Amino acid sequence: MRRIAVMTSGGDAPGMNAAIRAVVRTATARDIEVYGIRRGYTGLLAGDFERLSNREVSGILQRGGTILQTARNDEFKTPRGQKRGLRRLNEHGIDGMVVIGGDGSLNGALSLHKSEFPVVGIPGSIDNDIWGTNMSIGVDTALNTILDAIDKLRDTASSHERAFLIEAMGRNCGYLALMSGILGGAEIVSTPERPVELEEIAQALDDAYTRGKSHAIAVIAEGAQHKIQEVSSYLEKHPCGFEVRLTILGHVQRGGSPSAFDRLLATRMGVVAVEELVSGNSGVMVGLDGRQMSTVPLEEVVVKQRNISESYYKMAEVLSR
Ligand code: ADP
Ligand code: F6P
Repeated sequence: MRRIAVMTSGGDAPGMNAAIRAVVRTATARDIEVYGIRRGYTGLLAGDFERLSNREVSGILQRGGTILQTARNDEFKTPRGQKRGLRRLNEHGIDGMVVIGGDGSLNGALSLHKSEFPVVGIPGSIDNDIWGTNMSIGVDTALNTILDAIDKLRDTASSHERAFLIEAMGRNCGYLALMSGILGGAEIVSTPERPVELEEIAQALDDAYTRGKSHAIAVIAEGAQHKIQEVSSYLEKHPCGFEVRLTILGHVQRGGSPSAFDRLLATRMGVVAVEELVSGNSGVMVGLDGRQMSTVPLEEVVVKQRNISESYYKMAEVLSR
């Protein structure tokens, strides 16, 4: 390996910059040149490459977002787009690439591997929906952002004796909603994986009121069966004792300076990704397995479903009483 590329793709996540920095500095220490590809697969197709030396990645460790920017690109999903991408990599003399992103982005990485182009993936997504790693880059920071919001909303909820419906991100995965529900002391959590009926949500809030609580919180995942507005409308017609307010946290969850956990995770993953490329391992994603770094075939990552342990649902239920 003489020259490698690194890109961020799909939804951004806090810690992506820390991973880019680790990739660049690990490669540089081995006399390997690094090129950053701007805007994910869109930049790849457009030939938007820039040389990254150690200096270009100075001062980014603590920054949210991604200095390489990110994008979604439909053309790259087609064999024609992938061929064009490969051509661009060859034109720039790139010998291997690190792709930092979510499920979709890792699928794109797999397509390059299948064309015999060396590629290693790093899981970056706040949703924690990627199979093959205990945690993805950005999850911990997003969780901390949500908890900060829940704590603040609880202050005002308690002062006014109100119930708050809080929407957490997660189109297909309820990890953020469930964990923030447990750690933020919610009365009930609704996730895409575990549908909760409107009556159950109303009942949980009503129970809290009856038990004499000064506030109540329901965390609703973005992809839950009943959307937050629907829950709110239902509660207007079926009062639960508390006056109800609704807060959609939205993209604030994707920004911010990465937590210590995310900086460490991203840094370790960046280092290992380069080491794997150098040792000739391609078509794998770097993962966190217990306390160790591991590698898992991208073939598995893109087909297997990461499930939330049943014990967390139980925990949420028991601890909300
Ligand atoms: P994320 O990586 O966060 O899951 P997306 O699912 O939007 O985000 O995927 C990001 C990009 O990865 C897509 O816009 C596309 O360019 C590429 N991609 C997604 N799925 C595939 C696929 N099956 N084959 C090739 N590229 C893909
Ligand atoms: O990064 C994952 C995610 O945050 C999902 O939870 C959410 O549904 C989606 O991205 C929204 O992404 P965007 O607004 O960039 O399309």
